[in-house]
Amino acid sequence: MASAVIGLGTYLPLRRVTNEELADRFDTSDEWISTRTGIHTRRWADTGQATSDLAVTAGERALKSAGLTPDDIDAVVLATTTPDHPCPATAPAVASRLGLRTIAAYDISAVCSGFLYALAAGHGQIAAKNAQRVLVIGAETYSTILNPADRTTNVIFGDGAGAIVLAEHTRKDQEGSILGVDLGSDGSQQDLIRIPAGGSRQRATPGDATEEDHYFAMQGKAVFRQAVTRMGDSANSLLQRIGWDKDSVNHIVGHQANVRILKALADYLELPHERAVINIDRVGNTSAASIPLALADAAHAGRLKPGDRILMTAFGGGLTWASAAITWPSITPV
Ligand code: COA
Repeated sequence: MASAVIGLGTYLPLRRVTNEELADRFDTSDEWISTRTGIHTRRWADTGQATSDLAVTAGERALKSAGLTPDDIDAVVLATTTPDHPCPATAPAVASRLGLRTIAAYDISAVCSGFLYALAAGHGQIAAKNAQRVLVIGAETYSTILNPADRTTNVIFGDGAGAIVLAEHTRKDQEGSILGVDLGSDGSQQDLIRIPAGGSRQRATPGDATEEDHYFAMQGKAVFRQAVTRMGDSANSLLQRIGWDKDSVNHIVGHQANVRILKALADYLELPHERAVINIDRVGNTSAASIPLALADAAHAGRLKPGDRILMTAFGGGLTWASAAITWPSITPV
């Protein structure tokens, strides 16, 4: 028993932040940002707009895309680095606001790999027959955790949300099928990407932490160095396991961290750059929302045809990495 994607919905906050706007506020330039990251604009949430607000709209749209009502959903898995609160999880609030029944709802914390970890969790719930239809959401408001003194992270990250509906199916060749997932982590490198304070290691109480400790911090170069090999090795191992010939992959939907990483990933996989889906230029790095936003962007552009083989792969804080293989279903993202 396995699952298939039957709906996809996305939401981007209205506020568009250009490189020029950031160049007015930081010691940076459109030229540096465009050439070093490939990003031209990103969206940032309005003041007061929380991660659940984005997730609810993406979730509503995913239900619409799948042609389902709230009663049809049996579980919600929400991937985020920016929950509404440290406690409780954001998923139950999202489920409630979507008008779902009192179903299982929980968060996944795997930073930029979060969406694929959540996908694996949803797939597992269906395989275990705990659920027939699962709403899997990746939603982020990184603009709320960026250090106002750190130009590097401010130019990279954007806000957004994407959601898919997974449904039970019985045929492995059904379009939209999840044919395999590969997950990995290396906690010995947890310091490369983190928010130092606010957890049990370093409490949020005044005096215990500096203001800076509450912001997202990243050692960009060290992250960059291993992003390609971690995603590439994970993707290769998955391809081997499910028996897909590399050349048969129609689209690589990699986590949108940096356009240079996406191109290097295609090189590492020995596939042409044209097979890499790229939307980072318009949305920046949206962490857990990155993969569903890239899928929707490619679908809207008419690039994804039913039955196309899609290799998704992501890398992020933890460190964590993940890959998943699906065939594209006959759906219209909303
Ligand atoms: N504007 C202008 N200059 C900047 C800058 C900015 N926004 N950010 C950094 N710089 C400067 C640095 O200070 C450095 O200056 P120096 O040479 O005088 O010391 C120079 O640019 C090069 O910095 P470096 O860190 O080597 O740049 P880079 O080519 O590695 O690009 C990142 C930086 C962050 C864009 C890149 O490392 C990256 O994309 N990393 C992965 C990040 C990521 O994906 N994280 C999410 C989890 S997957």
